[in-house]
Amino acid sequence: MSFDLVFFGGTGDLTWRKLMPALFQAFRHGKLPAGGRILAVARDDQSDDKYRAWLKERFQDVEGHKRPSDEEFARFAEMVNYRRMDLSKPEHYAGLKQWLDERGADTVVLYLATSPHLFPQICEQLGAMGLNGPHIRVVLEKPLGHDLASAQEINRVVRSVFSETHAFRIDHYLGKASVQNLMALRFGNALFEPLWRRESIANIQITLAESLGVGTRGDFYDRTGALRDMIQNHALQLLTMVAMEPPSRNDADAIRDEKLKVLRSLRPFTEESVQRDVVRGQYRKGTADGKPVPGYLDEVKVPPGSHCETFVALRTEVQNWRWAGVPFYLRTGKRLAARDAQIVVNFRPTPHNIFPGTNQPNKLVIKLQPEDGLELHLLAAKGTSQQDTLAPVFLDLDFDKAFAENRVGGYERLLLEAIAGRLNLFVRSDEQEQAWRWVEPILDAWSRDDHASGGPRPYAAGTWGPAAASALVARDGFAWSEEQ
Ligand code: BG6
Repeated sequence: MSFDLVFFGGTGDLTWRKLMPALFQAFRHGKLPAGGRILAVARDDQSDDKYRAWLKERFQDVEGHKRPSDEEFARFAEMVNYRRMDLSKPEHYAGLKQWLDERGADTVVLYLATSPHLFPQICEQLGAMGLNGPHIRVVLEKPLGHDLASAQEINRVVRSVFSETHAFRIDHYLGKASVQNLMALRFGNALFEPLWRRESIANIQITLAESLGVGTRGDFYDRTGALRDMIQNHALQLLTMVAMEPPSRNDADAIRDEKLKVLRSLRPFTEESVQRDVVRGQYRKGTADGKPVPGYLDEVKVPPGSHCETFVALRTEVQNWRWAGVPFYLRTGKRLAARDAQIVVNFRPTPHNIFPGTNQPNKLVIKLQPEDGLELHLLAAKGTSQQDTLAPVFLDLDFDKAFAENRVGGYERLLLEAIAGRLNLFVRSDEQEQAWRWVEPILDAWSRDDHASGGPRPYAAGTWGPAAASALVARDGFAWSEEQ
């Protein structure tokens, strides 16, 4: 199958740091279908060779074992082309169409790795030029909108040009092997499903913690904040995968229908419940990896006195028969104590304890990153005396070790799926809009309350966020995993 893959935003950060390195890995692993061309499109005037030379230089930043040798790069670079385009000019789209038509590839993937405010314009121009035939797909990078209305507007324009089956909305978490394993754990094994419900589960915690700060992205981040950046998309996608009913088939719409039902079952926020169930924070100076680091307000391009949240913890419930009354806690933040993404399923304690000592409940930890694995925490008798109290032990599965060869990275998987035309790992417009509908009352409450409350609560860099986040969970008689 021949394909043409076009990157709009071909000199942007995403293309350099994620997309090109991921494509190179796919190439190295022999997974890119033969007969492919990659076209980077951007405003600069330069030749294919100059672009390739830039790319080679950028590949020096890729971690060691993923970096191409000269010989590998030369073979990969044969696929890479560059084209200058001013995205507002119809004649430049005509030139692109001609370039694509001359070849007539079986599949064309148009990847919009630009700022999202350009999506409507690009889609309209592509449509006007007839670049929306049945063999053409469009890939849209997040953030897809800033709120419900802007997301709906982007979707309206995209839909007027591309059908839903040709629109691939990226949430890069769905490309992670560990997130695939969550589906495998739930729907490829019979063991947990009978326990996967309110009768056995006390609470579920989803943590997406980063130790990095906002780096040089202060201006983007300040317009976004942690709720839009991580909760509306990544955390909610994970929540849907944990809480969804088993889909009838491993098929994009069967899966996405079930995920949408979860989003629609989430308890809606009110002004009062935002006050009670959502904690926002902003980091102050502290440490990261033992070194002093500045606070958010001292980061480059962050406006003075900003109230942008760099941390969110919240409590919600999935209001259906399976989950009624089970708290789901979501938490994300920059400059936290560790880079750690995990889902912790805390089971209920045994109903009657016959052993001395505490009756510590079982828990299943689904580790998403940096490790990809599972820990099942149990109690066992040490066998050292008759009066033994039970000791905690855990089964530890490390998928990186178990499947050592050539594990496919997130963007690599998503790019290959988009080329193959499989939508399972992409977000449907109704899911995305429902996620916005759910977070919007939080954004509204914050903007109303901003001055009265003084904005987000401070936390020192290198900690687990404001103390109020612990209190949120303690109120229900539980604790975050690291405090258990
Ligand atoms: C992105 C956010 O979507 O995800 C970033 O915009 C964040 O702010 C990143 O750092 C985290 O992704 P990962 O794969 O490193 O957990």
